[in-house]
Amino acid sequence: MPYYSQEIIDEIISKNDIVSVVGERVHLKRQGGSYVGLCPFHNDRNPSFSVSPSKQMCHCFSCLEGGDVISFVMKYENYTFPEAVKVLADRAGVALPEVQYTPEMQLVKGKREKLYEIMNEAEKYFFYQLKTEAGALGMRYFEERQLTPETIQHFGLGYSLQYSNDIVRYLRKKGYDDDLIREAGLGVFYEKEGMVDKFINRVMFPIQNSNGKVIGFGGRVMGDAKPKYLNSPENLIFEKRKNLFGLNYARRSKKKYMILCEGYMDVIAMHQAGFTEAVASLGTAFTPEQAMLLKRFTKDVLLAYDSDGPGVAAALKALAILNEMDMHGRVINMKPYKDPDEFIKGLGVEEFQKRLDHAEDGFMFEVRQAHVPFETEGAGARERTEFTRTLVDMLCRFEDEIERENYLTDVASIYNIDRDTLHNAVIKAASRGASERTKAALNVRSLGNEESAKRKDNIKGSAKRCEMTLLAWIAQRPELYEQIKEDITASDFTDDIYRKAAEIIFGQIKNGKVVPTSVIESFEEDEEKRAVTEVFFSSPEELEQDPQMESGAERFKNLVIKVKQNGLGSASNMSADPNAELERLIAGKRLVEELSRRKFNV
Ligand code: GTP
Ligand code: MN
Repeated sequence: MPYYSQEIIDEIISKNDIVSVVGERVHLKRQGGSYVGLCPFHNDRNPSFSVSPSKQMCHCFSCLEGGDVISFVMKYENYTFPEAVKVLADRAGVALPEVQYTPEMQLVKGKREKLYEIMNEAEKYFFYQLKTEAGALGMRYFEERQLTPETIQHFGLGYSLQYSNDIVRYLRKKGYDDDLIREAGLGVFYEKEGMVDKFINRVMFPIQNSNGKVIGFGGRVMGDAKPKYLNSPENLIFEKRKNLFGLNYARRSKKKYMILCEGYMDVIAMHQAGFTEAVASLGTAFTPEQAMLLKRFTKDVLLAYDSDGPGVAAALKALAILNEMDMHGRVINMKPYKDPDEFIKGLGVEEFQKRLDHAEDGFMFEVRQAHVPFETEGAGARERTEFTRTLVDMLCRFEDEIERENYLTDVASIYNIDRDTLHNAVIKAASRGASERTKAALNVRSLGNEESAKRKDNIKGSAKRCEMTLLAWIAQRPELYEQIKEDITASDFTDDIYRKAAEIIFGQIKNGKVVPTSVIESFEEDEEKRAVTEVFFSSPEELEQDPQMESGAERFKNLVIKVKQNGLGSASNMSADPNAELERLIAGKRLVEELSRRKFNV
């Protein structure tokens, strides 16, 4: 770690109890010696997130996310390592030494930090241009849309000049290289012209992550040209599906709900009118990941989507996602206006508040939309039958009986359908369709865990899995190391992560004590940290492949042998000299035989 000494990091970890740091963000319950809660990193329905006070680590048994207190804060808050360290140091009252960036440190600065830095620089530049003579066009545009100077300042709105490589030149002068400018999406490279500004003659909307860091821009034309908006391309810090425009402010709102709208301008107009709980997706449809973000603050989401056809279609999709995530959607009636921006200008704040108070229940909205195609002239029994069938399907979605019956009663009365007929049809259909819905729900639940799932698969049934299990065993019961220290060394582990972890853990055992957090902090990459966290959280007894084997000692021995054999065959342990290689193999074989006769105490 180029920033702080290991002593400082250790002090920060020891002064920030992981149970309270996680507990400030996730509702935790005590369970035996540890704490459990719903995992904040996937759509968890049964608490699978475990926090261990003794290990000072957290781990999700379902999606495998986790780590020590620093990793947790990084992942949860989307912070870089130095940011997480800073926040935790402040929290514990630890004074951090001033970091002076030497040229070498600048070089090793992470890519993410460089991207944050250049985006911040660009935001300041666009903002500055808006106030210059050349930016008067942009300023006039914002004024026409009735944005106040305070709003412009608050959202850091800006303007990109009409020249073709204005900000590119500016950023180069500031010392940023072309690769970074391109990766940040501020410049585009063409064979003929070279590097050219991505945003030309547009009003600029900085997109901030939930911590207020600029991660991208939306640039809007000031007239009717197409495309209306240009958005920054995605990169290491900008993932459209995982961020929401306005969330950095909305998260501080005291309201019990969040308002989800379609456009940047809608969010800005609403915040200006005092509805600071408004957010918008980033030029793409609302995603399950964004629902997860909102769920941290509330389950209750009001949709302020356009009242036109595409707006209704988008609202239906958003409602489906909210449903899948066990959240509750309601739909704001925007008529006779198209969107919240126009509504507030037309009818004002009080009227909009009334619309919020009377937002339509998401399910009733869906039903109403499903009814539309049947509202043709001369519709009769056939149309009513078809609509009733649709209703039956929709009602089957409710797993909770009371909830389902309540909706059923309302729907039957509004659409004038016999309640008992509807009830019986739903019961019949529910028993038929139950298995398929469970399957669909499982798909959603595994959301965002592909990486972990892949690793899980790889580990299963392979030599790596044995390495992980043996290491878990020793890490959690260091006294076992005594029995194998002559036979197994770190170099027997063929997986890069486990080998490095073994080296550190064995070293710590020799020095008297395994410190899980410090093992984790020796790794830089997320994926590595996760893998090592799993070593400390998995129960080796259960992980062992062969449940047939009765005694723990037998399983332990089996693992030792497998790891040894695998290590012997690994290319990295081979000797280039044929004689030496033969010696090595014979010695290894002898050792394996000896191990198989040995008695272990587990
Ligand atoms: P105004 O038309 O200025 O009121 O902006 P708006 O934010 O209300 O836009 P609109 O309702 O038309 O679109 C909603 C959102 O969709 C915008 O905020 C953008 O994020 C996105 N969007 C709209 N047009 C485009 C486009 O041409 N390209 C891209 N990439 N995104 C767009
Ligand atoms: Mn609009």
